[in-house]
Amino acid sequence: MLAWATDIHLDFLEAPERRAFAEHVASTGCEALLLTGDISDQRALGLHLVEIADTVGVPVYFVLGNHDYYHGAVESGRRSVRELCAKSPRLTWLHASEVVPLRSGVGLVGVDGWGDARLGAPDTTPILLNDFRYIEELAWLDTKERNAVLRGLGDESASRLVAQLEAALPAYERLIVATHIPPFAEACWHEGALSDDQWLPFFSCAAVGAVLLEAADAHPTTTLEVYCGHTHSPGVAALRPNLVVHTGGARYGHPCLADTISLPPRVTR
Ligand SMILES: [Fe+2]
Repeated sequence: MLAWATDIHLDFLEAPERRAFAEHVASTGCEALLLTGDISDQRALGLHLVEIADTVGVPVYFVLGNHDYYHGAVESGRRSVRELCAKSPRLTWLHASEVVPLRSGVGLVGVDGWGDARLGAPDTTPILLNDFRYIEELAWLDTKERNAVLRGLGDESASRLVAQLEAALPAYERLIVATHIPPFAEACWHEGALSDDQWLPFFSCAAVGAVLLEAADAHPTTTLEVYCGHTHSPGVAALRPNLVVHTGGARYGHPCLADTISLPPRVTR
């Protein structure tokens, strides 16, 4: 069984609270922890990842969310995370990894995703996220420039996912796909309802959604189970019989497990 949590925002917590959350995860007896982004911010991300991996004592598979780049830059943040994972055997940043085999026929892939300013009303929305102040690549841009950067970040995640799926689809009949941003409008719950056109540009990653739909349609016998977060409001959306998106709930200052993900028993000889 995998334990799944999203948007745990550990930078909002003191060390004993972070430890209590990690101990709770460990107490479930999970074989691994899956984190779908907004783990911390860039100043504390490395420390918090190491802390949680040490306490849970099982592999931690994760993607990064927009908050994980706050007070820094996407480029340098990614470099640091790559370096950290290279020396921390329990930590795997899925965005930079190949498919992780979990069982025969069951694999795990993941990409960060980004609110890619495509769905809803990206050119006219009045909403300005903190991302546009606290992430270097997004600061000091006008709407047109910023939306171009956001689309580029969404496209980068989509092309990583294409590469991962090309390798994984022929070999797996069930793929667990982790990403931070909901890839479809149908999976963008916000405060219990689907997002409106003002929020949707920043709450959805259309580029990743397009890749998932194409993969599901081209491989009808493979099941794609997507786990995401970002909007802090839970829900499940079935886009196809073989493509289901689970959006996890979250509350600032109160990290919890969004769900557990069952896996078939290990085959032993
Ligand atoms: Fe987020």
